[in-house]
Amino acid sequence: MIQLAIFEDYQTLSRQAAIYIADRIKQKPNTILGLATGSTPLGLYEELVSLHKAKKVNFSEVVTFNLDEYASLPKEHPQSYYYFMQQHLFSKVNIQLHNIHFPEGMFHDANHACQLYEQQLLENGPIDLQILGIGSNGHIGFNEPADRMTLQTHITDLADRTIVDNARFFNDETEVPRKAITMGIGSIMKAKTILLLANNETKTAALNALFSGVIDPNIPASILQLHENVLVFVNSDVAKHLKYRPTALMNK
Ligand code: PGA
Repeated sequence: MIQLAIFEDYQTLSRQAAIYIADRIKQKPNTILGLATGSTPLGLYEELVSLHKAKKVNFSEVVTFNLDEYASLPKEHPQSYYYFMQQHLFSKVNIQLHNIHFPEGMFHDANHACQLYEQQLLENGPIDLQILGIGSNGHIGFNEPADRMTLQTHITDLADRTIVDNARFFNDETEVPRKAITMGIGSIMKAKTILLLANNETKTAALNALFSGVIDPNIPASILQLHENVLVFVNSDVAKHLKYRPTALMNK
């Protein structure tokens, strides 16, 4: 079931997402969190850091799994997703290094890197709470539009649209890596709860696929319609453009 929550603005959305996560961690201190990168969760991480500083959330037992990583960017590269997480969350809270899991972008043996992440997910999982953004093309993690969905961790070619979308983080489009390693649709779908955030109107078409009643591998996020517990947090600008409304509204 998908529940939609509409917030006045990005700051409120981010704050409420952080409060929700902090609450889940309070209920289960060793929560397994699936984490996303990109511009959407920046506000959420900022709010989580504030809550941590105010002693309202304790990450000492929290275990994390990130969705994806660019291939061939070392961890210390400012655009690597590992670097992003260090900068915006990990270095600012009391998370333990051994509880952080990332797919290996600097792999020599692609199969080995994918199997290793799958094994770590199997040993620790399922994920309690998976944070997701959504690509303007409907991707989740780097599960890009394709003829079929891939369930397990895999190496993927970035879609042309993703390369264009992500060029804003690099000096120019040619610098955007063409490949990435990503958690598969299977691990995302096994998460007990999914919290998807969207605050940009470029995501409207992709979001509408969440309420369409059609599962389409060309819009990977559409699979979320089969999940039992998906919370979608949007701001009011995005909400205005949503064609479909799910039946359960968390708030107005
Ligand atoms: P964004 O990316 O948060 O930078 O818009 C979301 C995504 O591609 O999943």
